[in-house]
Amino acid sequence: MAALGVLEHASVMRALVRPGKNTFAEALRVRKMGLEFAHPVGLAGGFDKNAMRPRALAALGFAHVEIGTVTALAQEENPRPNLFRLPADHALVNRLGFPNEGADAVTKRLAEKGCDVPVGISIGKSRAVPTLPIDDAIADYVTSFRFARRALEKIKGFVVVNVSSPNTKDLRAMQAADIAKRLLDAISAENARDPRIPVLVKVAPDLDDAALDSLLDVVLASGIEGIVATNTTVAREHLVTDASTVASIGGGGLSGPPLRRRARTIVARARKKLGPERTIIGVGGISDGPSALAMLDAGADLLQLYTGMIYEGPFIARSLAREIAAARGC
Ligand SMILES: Cc1cc2nc3c(=O)[nH]c(=O)nc-3n(C[C@H](O)[C@H](O)[C@H](O)COP(=O)(O)O)c2cc1C
Repeated sequence: MAALGVLEHASVMRALVRPGKNTFAEALRVRKMGLEFAHPVGLAGGFDKNAMRPRALAALGFAHVEIGTVTALAQEENPRPNLFRLPADHALVNRLGFPNEGADAVTKRLAEKGCDVPVGISIGKSRAVPTLPIDDAIADYVTSFRFARRALEKIKGFVVVNVSSPNTKDLRAMQAADIAKRLLDAISAENARDPRIPVLVKVAPDLDDAALDSLLDVVLASGIEGIVATNTTVAREHLVTDASTVASIGGGGLSGPPLRRRARTIVARARKKLGPERTIIGVGGISDGPSALAMLDAGADLLQLYTGMIYEGPFIARSLAREIAAARGC
């Protein structure tokens, strides 16, 4: 984040680094949710939590950037240590717990800065607001949504309703169909007037098929645009790191290649159920050409990554876009 400061604040530097108008083949362009993306690869939620570096991240080559997760109330990170590397697996475990300056401040900053690429604003539940009674939790999301909407009247983008982080107590219970329906209905009611902002819901990889199907039914019935699949997992499968090291890290969400297969399975199932029109952003373990292409083949319209940038470096979006283009012969 510190290194990106120079890019963020000096437009001359961004102009030097930024991909030119014709860097990406026309055939890579994605038009979804009324937005246009130069190529499918974007930055996942959680890296730029406070909208400090959206312009720099766009200049690096991400064709969209998701900021946040923001919450209605500003809050600190969970006690440290809360972020771990599993180098042998190119994976991370985090239990940060949505540290952010609050939805009002962050979305104001974003709107003032602007951004060359579409921006996703991820909204979550404030830690201080319990999940039950559910009306309070919903009101907390709606507060954040209002702020996000205000920013997205000025800049192009979409909102992601994050109900799938494992690091806020009971948050994932909000994926249950009856609760998700009330939450998404409340957000849609707030989104009834023009301009209508595209809304997606971000799902956990740990949902079983029945729970996923019920949630997808809610997505279909609610009229929101689609899903982001997936968040980090609480499972500790497909790891080569030894079990005692993994156990010593403790709780949190695992990200990176060990998540790939599950994220892809969820995307494929969701595409079948949602049909071709809805938007699916595939995320989980994308770190090279084959993993990006496999996620697109599973049915994703757009891709996101976080852990892949930590291990492969800041220009990963560009190289993935090139690899997708090469594979498609464009
Ligand atoms: C350190 C860290 C913080 C994260 N914070 C958030 C967050 O605030 N909101 C969110 O929706 N996802 C968050 N995520 C999850 C990522 O957006 C993504 O869904 C997940 O890491 C899987 O993608 P990856 O394997 O490319 O990292 C975070 C991930 C990491 C590694």
